[in-house]
Amino acid sequence: MIHQERARLAVLGAGHVGPVIARLAIKAGYPVAIATSGDPADIALITELVIPGAQPRWAPDAVADADIVVLAIPLHRFGDVDPGLLAGKLVVDAMNYWPASDGVLKAFEDGASSEIVARRLSGSAVVKALNHIGYHDLEDRTRTAGAPDRRAVGVAGDDPAAVAAMAGLVDRIGYDPVRLGSLRAGRALQPGGPVFGVTLTLPEFERAIREEARSLA
Ligand SMILES: NC(=O)c1ccc[n+]([C@@H]2O[C@H](COP(=O)([O-])OP(=O)(O)OC[C@H]3O[C@@H](n4cnc5c(N)ncnc54)[C@H](OP(=O)(O)O)[C@@H]3O)[C@@H](O)[C@H]2O)c1
Repeated sequence: MIHQERARLAVLGAGHVGPVIARLAIKAGYPVAIATSGDPADIALITELVIPGAQPRWAPDAVADADIVVLAIPLHRFGDVDPGLLAGKLVVDAMNYWPASDGVLKAFEDGASSEIVARRLSGSAVVKALNHIGYHDLEDRTRTAGAPDRRAVGVAGDDPAAVAAMAGLVDRIGYDPVRLGSLRAGRALQPGGPVFGVTLTLPEFERAIREEARSLA
């Protein structure tokens, strides 16, 4: 059970989207550690400048102390992550399969990226979220609850408690969460899906997802 007031985040990945997620989480009151695959000393200065309040750490240390771990790394690097480290954690898969930059990854060609991630992280509760909005928009489009132009973020997962916890985080960082009841349903959040790369309000988002479901029925 994740208590939002006490949850600690580890963001793996300090490229484009990782720092944005870290900044939003810090603003929302979460303690945040950020890590790359390398030495935290290498990102200490940049972290201080662009993610004030975040703690640069070695990835295993950041993960060990976290309740929620955000995977903000390229999918082709996912194989480097030790599933044992992530066991018992709520893992947010913010990754996308992007052959242009990932190269062709045979295992991910059938469109089931988070399902494959979850299968490998069998000791973790995996949710797919924060993958479908570009990093600039993700930072700029946050709004307080109730704002008429507040946008929606999908949260998909097979574990309802994990989805609820992540929905809470999404709300706190400034988006209306839309819960999708399985990682399979979360395929709608992926590249080529109806909500990928566009920022939609809650009614627009729900309509787009419903239309997609109808067209697949
Ligand atoms: N860019 C966006 O707007 C956006 C938005 C939503 C989701 N996404 C998705 O998020 C993922 C990352 O995208 P990005 O554009 O942020 O990538 P990026 O700019 O290439 O950054 C990747 C980061 O991951 C780190 N990394 C790689 N392997 C790691 C490991 N094993 N442990 C810890 N850190 C590791 C890299 O550092 P080192 O190489 O030094 O380890 C780097 O800091 C992709 O799957 C992408 O589809 C991107």
